[in-house]
Amino acid sequence: MSLPPNIILDCDPGHDDAFALIVAAKFCNVLGVTTVAGNAPLELTTRNARIILDLCGSTAPLHSGADKPLVQPPVFADYVHGKSGMDGAELPEPSRPADSTHAIDFIIDTVRSRDDVWLVPTGPLTNVALALTRAPDLAARLRGISLMGGGRFGNRTPSAEFNIWLDPEAAATVFMSGAPIVMAGLHLTHEFQASPPRIAAVESAHPRVGPLLAGLLRFFSGTYVNRHVGFEGAAMHDVCSVLALTHPDLFETSSKYVAVDLHGNHTRGMTVIDDRQLIDRPSANATVLETIDADRGFSVIVDAVRACP
Ligand code: RIB
Ligand code: CA
Repeated sequence: MSLPPNIILDCDPGHDDAFALIVAAKFCNVLGVTTVAGNAPLELTTRNARIILDLCGSTAPLHSGADKPLVQPPVFADYVHGKSGMDGAELPEPSRPADSTHAIDFIIDTVRSRDDVWLVPTGPLTNVALALTRAPDLAARLRGISLMGGGRFGNRTPSAEFNIWLDPEAAATVFMSGAPIVMAGLHLTHEFQASPPRIAAVESAHPRVGPLLAGLLRFFSGTYVNRHVGFEGAAMHDVCSVLALTHPDLFETSSKYVAVDLHGNHTRGMTVIDDRQLIDRPSANATVLETIDADRGFSVIVDAVRACP
């Protein structure tokens, strides 16, 4: 039995971020949680993280970070996650404030204090890029970066996925940092949907928390089903970045060179994955998650909900 991965979860809750937190609380050693603006303004993503940490009984330290991308102005995804950033249930008020507003310092200090830390960013990569820029030694010290972002197609644009699209300069810094990267892109995460039977399994997994989380999933799935052709529920994007570390046998992967486009009229924020079958091609900088055993993966989510206090 391998030891739980030691992680810092950097997130923008966000419904799927919330479930990434819940799975991490059960199956990881969460050294800390940091928040970033993305799905919602920083104040809301931080409030939502505080609520979810309470629901899963986690006392992990929480530090807020960047309230806007490195270069372009902030844009939020209330059209997917609602005005609160996590609509769909009457959630309890958070029991505790964030521990600080210094997420970047927390990331740097924590990674420098040990040599087995995974960063798990599930929102725009602003905080991670700022940490890597301020402390270039982190790239070699990190166990790795397991991120949700990018893919072989987009969602915010035909070519760019939201997390990368919102802060492509940050994403480029991360992919060029030299740190080992695990990438959960849309071509994978769209295969991991919160279908109605799976939502029902969450609902019945815990008498108090189950109905609340099912309400969140029904809201989130409603926006997905209404906006997409052929979806039976919301894609549980961010959970994949945690599962890649806790349950790697759920996935098939490939090693690829991935670059982030910054200047294309139609491709800014695109992750360009080099799939060429050439012997002479750039060496891989990322492990790309390609397929997931969705039924087994969702049973892990249900187990994590069941474990809430
Ligand atoms: O494109 C999907 C990503 O954008 C997920 O991380 C979701 O939470 C939103 O942040
Ligand atoms: Ca997210």
